Amino acid sequence: MAVTTQPKLDAQRIRADFAYLEELVNGKPFAYLDSAVSTQKPRQVLDAMREFYEHSYTNVHRSVYRLAERATEGFEGARQKVAAFVNAPSEREVIFTRSSTEALNLVAYAWGLDNLGKGDLVVVTELEHHSNFVPWQYVAKRTGATFRHIPIDDQGELQLDVLDSLAREGTVKVVANNLVSNSLGTINPVEKLAAWAHEQGAIMVVDAAQAAPHRPIDVQALGCDFLAFSSHKMCGPSGVGALWGRRELLEEMSPFNLGGEMIRSVSIDKTTWNELPYKFEAGTPAIAEAYGFGVAIDYISEIGLEAIERHEQELVTYAMGRLAGLDWVTVYGPPADRRAGIVSFNVDGVHPHDVSQLLDWEGIAVRGGHHCTQPLMTRLGVSATTRASFYVYTIPEEVDRLVDGLHKVKKSLG
Ligand code: ALA
Repeated sequence: MAVTTQPKLDAQRIRADFAYLEELVNGKPFAYLDSAVSTQKPRQVLDAMREFYEHSYTNVHRSVYRLAERATEGFEGARQKVAAFVNAPSEREVIFTRSSTEALNLVAYAWGLDNLGKGDLVVVTELEHHSNFVPWQYVAKRTGATFRHIPIDDQGELQLDVLDSLAREGTVKVVANNLVSNSLGTINPVEKLAAWAHEQGAIMVVDAAQAAPHRPIDVQALGCDFLAFSSHKMCGPSGVGALWGRRELLEEMSPFNLGGEMIRSVSIDKTTWNELPYKFEAGTPAIAEAYGFGVAIDYISEIGLEAIERHEQELVTYAMGRLAGLDWVTVYGPPADRRAGIVSFNVDGVHPHDVSQLLDWEGIAVRGGHHCTQPLMTRLGVSATTRASFYVYTIPEEVDRLVDGLHKVKKSLG
């Protein structure tokens, strides 16, 4: 019999890298179950950024002295790491942005404004984060294109049987979908949607903000045209994200932000654009943050994306099993095997803000709110949910504490 060794991570060993775990909240150990909002940062990333600021920092791509060369090497080295992380054919297709949100706005504005018009369809999903929903809704309105969405079923999974009828409504030009839902954790069939998008002659835009930290990503295997993700959700600093885009499309697109660095030449009469990726990187970028993003990629790659995915699978299976035993808790979304490490739920009769406030007294951090997915909340028939989300440093004992905390919530307010 063939024996396969499944990669496994050692959460206890990893926890030693995170200073927040040394703190007590109300005298209790801190259970950070809000990694979907942003992950905590390991010492390795923080130390590397400090070292970079102290010994390799100045502006990039401008000066020729040694320090400037070191800064540029650090910044461009991070771009290579980002490109390799998503299996991009070339690092010139990787644009540093402030965030996934800015990356998605870049595509909506720079591609959408020039390529959409009356009779065209922009298709998003009911599961989108506002950052892959609102820019498309807005640009569709500006260009006269029709804005449509793919609905979800009661389990939070996309109803792909609507695709044929959508295609009959006009020329589908854009399909925009997240790879993992930030609210429900649903893992979406992006490869299928990308194939359908291309059959229609449309571009496929993937929001991978919630997927990139948790599972291996290969833009070539996904078959997408653009993919956005953020450093802060994967152990890196905030203020920097990345857009990968297919080279032919990026070459054809107009710039998004204008100013320094993104130009080739400027005269009173005319300005011409720099080559990729700089055409889309106006102004001084988040230099040390991009460097830290690269270090975070090294950090999570060393743990192993397969091992991270498996760890979250175990945690989410355990959490859903425990929550299923509470008949006063409603859990939203698909079964554990079709989701990442995210569980959204409600406690009967208690507002999610009150749930998170009471859990905070127990030293447990979860998010209560609409998670920037108001269309999804409307579909679920709620204004908000409580969301627990896990990462490399989460341990099953913290799920037990969450469940104990929910019993206290029910006793006080339920
Ligand atoms: N997009 C982040 C979240 O899901 C902020 O909470």
